[in-house]
Amino acid sequence: MNLTHKKILLIISGGIAAYKSLDLIRQIKKAGGDVQCVLTKAGAEFVTPLSVSALSENKCYMDLWDLTDESEMGHIRLSREADLVVVAPATANIIAKITHGMADDLATTTLLATNKPVMIAPAMNPCMWGNQATQDNIKTLRKRGFTILDPQIGEMACGETGQGRMVEPDDIMNAINDFFFKDKPLAGKHVLVTSGPTFEPIDPVRFIGNRSSGKQGHAIACALRDQGANVTLVSGPTALPDPNGLKTIHVETAVEMMNACQGNYDIAVCAAAVADYGVKHHDQKQKKSNGALDIELTENPDILQTISTSKNRPSIVIGFAAETENLVQHAKEKLLKKSCDAIVANQVGNKDNPVFGSDTTSIYWITKTVNEVHENLSKSTMAAILTDKIIEMMSDKAQEKDKVA
Ligand code: C5P
Repeated sequence: MNLTHKKILLIISGGIAAYKSLDLIRQIKKAGGDVQCVLTKAGAEFVTPLSVSALSENKCYMDLWDLTDESEMGHIRLSREADLVVVAPATANIIAKITHGMADDLATTTLLATNKPVMIAPAMNPCMWGNQATQDNIKTLRKRGFTILDPQIGEMACGETGQGRMVEPDDIMNAINDFFFKDKPLAGKHVLVTSGPTFEPIDPVRFIGNRSSGKQGHAIACALRDQGANVTLVSGPTALPDPNGLKTIHVETAVEMMNACQGNYDIAVCAAAVADYGVKHHDQKQKKSNGALDIELTENPDILQTISTSKNRPSIVIGFAAETENLVQHAKEKLLKKSCDAIVANQVGNKDNPVFGSDTTSIYWITKTVNEVHENLSKSTMAAILTDKIIEMMSDKAQEKDKVA
């Protein structure tokens, strides 16, 4: 199992099964995942914050009113930065509090504030599990979309036998794996996405850049991640936060972007607006002088073309074309010149309908045989459409390969 770039928030409440959560932390770390932990006061009666932080290699969060924690990472951030929240063990008490929206400590406040999927591994005495109150709460949580990992039947720590034992860490790991990858068409695929502009420095103060915001490239990276792909996002300077659940590499120049794009990928989507020319850099700030200023430009590598003609070419390579005129014709020329599988083309330079920085866009999807237009959609909807097209292309290529074999 590979949980690289996946962020899990583990909430440990007060039950004897808390000792199993230490093994769960170990397994998440072994799989390459990042795990932040919240330990309730009752949970700390069973395992120590020191064990939790040593195994997770992160701070163990406990107290809602700890001002240092709030400034370092408030409960809102704690809940938002995760891709998945796991409550293990979940006592009858915490289950009741989640169901009724109570928030009287860090764990329950975080659970009320989260907008991320929540997985619950109950652990309690069989009578508490069987109690109508608990069963009603569980039913409500299932209806709300929580994943419940039903407790197992067996002998309990209290000596009674029945249903109430928390599932094993291996079972929770399988459920986590299913959550991230099961039935996802791009599971196991390594994907490269470039996004944003490049800045080409003239001197330590000035640069040549462009108007790309990175919104479309970042949205594509997220849409590919949501279909199970292991995404590396190489981003030029943007004002956007790094998306959850993927690796972001920050670069400034085209040459840095080219270097960051090295590696073996199944799919590459080059959405970045890369400067065609860099500047012969001056170490000192250039002074104003009478007359024109000479700036010597040097040709940058074409990242898209380099990737699509390389020996380890990804099986799908998608390029972008932003044009002010003859959009489709230029895009078709680029498709051939840069040897890619499709070009996403958009018209720029129209003041009434700006593409740069906008949350909406219109594009042409151009391949050797297809020329389709998609108009006035949000960049995230467009990203989902493009991801579907990439998935279709992957399955067409796989079928072609099967026929040849
Ligand atoms: O030639 P043009 O810059 O219009 O091509 C746009 C496409 O080529 C985009 O996909 C862009 O990311 C890519 N490109 C690149 N490296 C460059 C220039 C463009 O990858 N130096």
